[in-house]
Amino acid sequence: MADLNELKKAAGVRAANMIESGMTVGLGTGSTAAYMVERLGERIQTEGLKVTAVSTSWSTTLQCRKLGIPLIDLGEATHLDIAIDGADEIDPAKNLIKGRGAAHLLEKIVASMAENYIIIADSGKKVQTLGEKFAVPLEILPNAIGSVTYKVTKLGATLAVRMGAPGKDGPVISDSGNLIADAKFGPIADPAKLDFELNKIPGLLGHGLFIGMANKVILAAPNGLEEF
Ligand code: A5P
Repeated sequence: MADLNELKKAAGVRAANMIESGMTVGLGTGSTAAYMVERLGERIQTEGLKVTAVSTSWSTTLQCRKLGIPLIDLGEATHLDIAIDGADEIDPAKNLIKGRGAAHLLEKIVASMAENYIIIADSGKKVQTLGEKFAVPLEILPNAIGSVTYKVTKLGATLAVRMGAPGKDGPVISDSGNLIADAKFGPIADPAKLDFELNKIPGLLGHGLFIGMANKVILAAPNGLEEF
């Protein structure tokens, strides 16, 4: 049985090798994306690859600084040639649940800017129906926590504000200063409809359903890479 980290690395390396000199690149967040960022840093050092990158989180930004990957501010970028990120659940139609790392708001902005949006993961992330295992992460304007909780609950979810980031008491605060909550819907029969409903809620700044955004999924399994 291959080690989980080896699988994540295989997917990350494969995606980083798709980046070409001159590209503008969106860099995702999480343990799988970190392997992709590591390989990109290595290619910049060894091949002299020239890229302009944007980051989806402080943790990725810090990793880029360490590796000498040149970043521009997300607000300076208009579109990207490619963006590469991990996911928590992936269905056969390449719809996703993201946000276990609380970066889904910026990750979705970056995904929306990319000509080519590539998802990397170990094969354990594949599900038949989104919501089978994970809740849908939400990013909520603190002032709107009451009204958003009420509206999301009416859509059928049990909602919990995410607490206890490592080394911090109290609620998890996103990189943009908002609250993170997890909305447990169970298996989601119509993810596009739920996406539409969640998008209408004022004060709900972002949610972790990524519908119709991914162009390619690279899954690493013990017997090799699967791409679809
Ligand atoms: C960050 O908020 C998430 O969307 C991650 O991209 C997702 O949780 C995947 O992370 P891992 O690669 O660490 O499983």
